[in-house]
Formats: sequence, C-alpha cells, structure tokens
Amino acid sequence: MAIRRTWWKEAVGYQIYPASFMDTNNDGIGDLNGIRSKLDYLKSLGIGFIWITPIYESPNVDNGYDISDYQKILGTFGTMEEFDLLLKEAHEQGLKIIMDLVINHTSNQHSWFVESRSSLKDDYRDYYIWADGTMDGPPNDWVSIFGGSAWEYDERTNQYYLHVFAKEQPDLNWENPRVKRDLFQMIDWWLDKGIDGFQVDAISHIKKAPLETTSTKDPFEAFKNVPGIETHLNDLRDIFKKRDILTVGEANGVSAAEAYQWVGETTGYFNMLFEFDHISLWNKDEQETVDVIQFKKALTAWQEALADGRGWNALYMENHDIPRSVSSFGSEEKVFWQASAKALALTFLLLQGTPFIYQGQEIGMTNLPFTSINEIDAVDTKNFYYEMIHSGVDPKNALNLIRKTARDNARTPMQWTAEEYAGFSKRKPWMRINPNKQEINVLHELNDPTSVLNFYKAVIQLRKENEALIYGRYQLYLPDHPQLFVYSRRLADERFVVISNLSKEFASADLPENVQIEEWDLQLSNLNDHTIHQHTIFAPYEARVYKHK
Ligand code: NOJ
Repeated sequence: MAIRRTWWKEAVGYQIYPASFMDTNNDGIGDLNGIRSKLDYLKSLGIGFIWITPIYESPNVDNGYDISDYQKILGTFGTMEEFDLLLKEAHEQGLKIIMDLVINHTSNQHSWFVESRSSLKDDYRDYYIWADGTMDGPPNDWVSIFGGSAWEYDERTNQYYLHVFAKEQPDLNWENPRVKRDLFQMIDWWLDKGIDGFQVDAISHIKKAPLETTSTKDPFEAFKNVPGIETHLNDLRDIFKKRDILTVGEANGVSAAEAYQWVGETTGYFNMLFEFDHISLWNKDEQETVDVIQFKKALTAWQEALADGRGWNALYMENHDIPRSVSSFGSEEKVFWQASAKALALTFLLLQGTPFIYQGQEIGMTNLPFTSINEIDAVDTKNFYYEMIHSGVDPKNALNLIRKTARDNARTPMQWTAEEYAGFSKRKPWMRINPNKQEINVLHELNDPTSVLNFYKAVIQLRKENEALIYGRYQLYLPDHPQLFVYSRRLADERFVVISNLSKEFASADLPENVQIEEWDLQLSNLNDHTIHQHTIFAPYEARVYKHK
C-alpha cells in the first residue's frame, strides 16, 4: 500500500511542560509568554509542531491534568488573549500547536462534578460514575493507578465515585450521551480557534468493565482498553476527521497487535499512539540498566505492526511522566553522558513515526538528585512514598527508589543558561533546578559544535532531507545482540542503516552482508569518523548512520 504523505508524518514534535519551560513574569512558574519568547529557539531546532501539556483552569492537584474549566486558561500561565497571540505567532513561524485533551476525567472542582455530587437527583449526577458501597466499603476492589482504592466515599449522598487517577480526578461517565455531547462541543470550540490537533490523555481508560468485575493480575484491567471502547472512540474520531489535524492517543494497555485497529491509516481512531511497551522496560524499581534486546523487540513490534502504510507510530523516549532517558537508558557518568544522549537521539529519531522530543531532552538533561520527599510535587510519587513508609520500608531506601522513578525528574526547570535560576526565571522556581545547569544548558550547547543540542539539530535535518528516513520501511538486524541496535530504513532505491551501541562496553558484531561498508557513506556519527568492516568494533554508546551510495 502506498504511504499517504501528510504534514504530521514529516514533522518532528516538541513537548512543552509549560510550568517548567520559561517564566516571563517572574513568579517562578513558566507561562505562555515564556513559550512565545522561545519560538525562535524552537524553530531553530527544525521541529514542526509543539505539544503543550494542560494550561486550562485547574486546582493543580495533578499539575493541570485535573481540569476545572476546559475553556479557560489558568491564571499562572496567562490569559486566553495571550494564548491566541502564541498560536498566531507560532503559525507565522510555521510551527503548529497541539493541545492536551483530558477527557477521561475532570477535576472535582469542575462545575459538572460540583453539581453531580450535590444530590442523587441532580441533573449532572450521571456525568460521573457513582455506586453504592458494600459490606467491605467501596463498591469493588479496583485500585487507582495513583495508589489506593479507585473509589472515594462522598457522605453527602452516601455513595462512592470512581477515580482511575487521584481522588480529585473523578472519571467521566462516557455511557452518558450528554457527557459526550458536551465534550465534543468543547473539542470543536478549540479546533475552531485554529489549533492543529490534540494529545488525547488517558484515552484507553474511558470504558469501564461492569462494576461486578474483580481485579486480576493486572490491577488496572477493568478500566484499560475494555471491550466496547470502540463505540466511544469511533464517535470521537467522527469529530476529529472533519479537519486536517494531528491526533495522538495516550494508550496504556493497547498492544502492538491491536495497533492497526487504533491507528490504521483509514479507519483508526487516531493518527498515532503513545504506546507503553518500550518505556515500561525502564520504569522499573531499582533496575540499573535496560535490556537492549527487549527494548528492540518492543519497538520493532510496533514498527512492523504499522509498516507499509498500514498506520503510523509516535516515537518518544521522554515525557513529563518518566525519568530522563539519559539517566535511565544512557548514562549520567561524565565519560558517557554526551555520547549516550546522542546515541539515544539517533536511535529514536530515525525510527518510522513522528518523533516527540521532550523539553530539555535535546540538551541531555538528567534526573534530579532529590534529597528529600519534600522536594517532590507529583501526587502519585508522594502516595507511593508514604505507602512504602507505612509498610515499613526504610525512608532512605524509599527515597532511593523515588529518585529513580519519580516523574518530577522530568519536571525540573528548563536549563537555558548557567545563571542562578538557569535563565528560566529571575526568582526561585516552583521546582528545584538541577545543579548540573553549569554544564548542561542551552546557551553553552549552542556555542559548542559537538554538543548534544547540535547533534539533535543535525539528526532532525537529516530526517527532513531524506524521505527514506520518514517513509522508508524499517528492518531490524541482529535482534539478539545485547548491546547493538541496528536497523535500516528503505524507500525504493534509497537506503539508510542506523547502528548504535547502547551500552557502556565496547561492542563488536558481524554486520549483515547487505550492510557491508564499501557501498555505504557515513552521514553522521557521535564519535570521530569510522569505517565499518565485517568485524566491527563500536565504542561505548557509539552511534552512526550510513546511507547507501
Ligand atoms: C497521563 C498524563 O501524562 C499524566 O501526567 C497524568 O497524571 C495522567 N494522564 C492523568 O491525567
């Protein structure tokens, strides 16, 4: 099947977590004018669109993912006029903007929920999922993704409501047609403004199993990609398909085998999905390194499932929910930091799909060495920490675990300069700045031709200039090699091969016959130039991309 060409397949995306991107009014929290002030920087990266995480009115229990008014901008971020200006100026620069669409749940401060909880007979009662308790307390044994029961008792009406995430994030009842109608109207309102698409949050959770269903080995199965969800998703798709927009669904629980149904080129619900298979490999307890073979396997399953025009992938190594990729999958050690950040960049940016770079990833930002739980903001991390303490885990060990896994690792302010507040703000930011801002910052890296930042730009440029790196077929080589990730991209006569050593040790491999070197030109490397031979040696975290002559 010929692959349909579209802007969202060719563009590279950049995710902005606005609270930590750039603060212009010096309240220590990033804002919309901060994003506007960095449009030139964003453009210079070579990206085509930005995704802004929630900026709507919110009590910020879950940093904006608890929305109390979908059509208002949170005061700390700015005003609707400032948003309109940002959209206009971004468009003038040729940058598109996609927004976060959080429609599995609202805040408990949303007027729908305030009404809903007021009485059993309220007109909005069925906007949420209410149920009577049992002898054991909650209606069933379901647990929240953020820890504890998924049910919260509300004494006003003597019933429980369901919350897949925090108790301040009640789940909307998608079985109620009025809920869909109101959500779809809101979606149209934003699209009418001229935004270019949505990241659709937690969308695999909108359908719930019957409440009699008890938890299984997977504690979230009763509300993760539950059969029947397709009806709701088809309705949502009908809203989206009227426009030329980018839609990416956050799809916890959707497997590569189901990918086609979700993002098939003509009938899929979304253009692409954020799958969870490859990141779940490194978000594990105290694990030191990631299994390269499993990593390749997880990514390859998605690459193959959507190959040959069947569908499209979303590619990511970082976002605001996971630790920094250099810290988890590369190395923070001085000797390896730069090479590992570049090797990860090359590996992920040249796969088939639309790459999303998370702010700071392009300069190789690392995890924060948290010294106390008081430095943590994220609601889930605090819950898990106190659960560990209550179950007798030593506080030091609990903190060590948090350090590795906390999503706040990715939420520290963007490091623009080496100044006291990293050029992010003129006063102490809402979140601690990583002490390594001295060495890792945009200003420094702009001036260093060998920096991670300049490498990102070079790879983005290479992708842009070569259709095979966008539309070409992916093929994996050496699937069982424990250190090397080797793949090719091929479109008609154009062929590339990407080779990265994702380990701290030297690696050697007999490259496949059709990757023999005489016929290949090195395009980019994160070390000095090399010539590949049949028996090739790769330095720790060495990465290269070749083009067939
Ligand atoms: C996924 C978002 O990325 C995360 O930050 C949020 O906490 C949950 N969805 C709930 O909305």
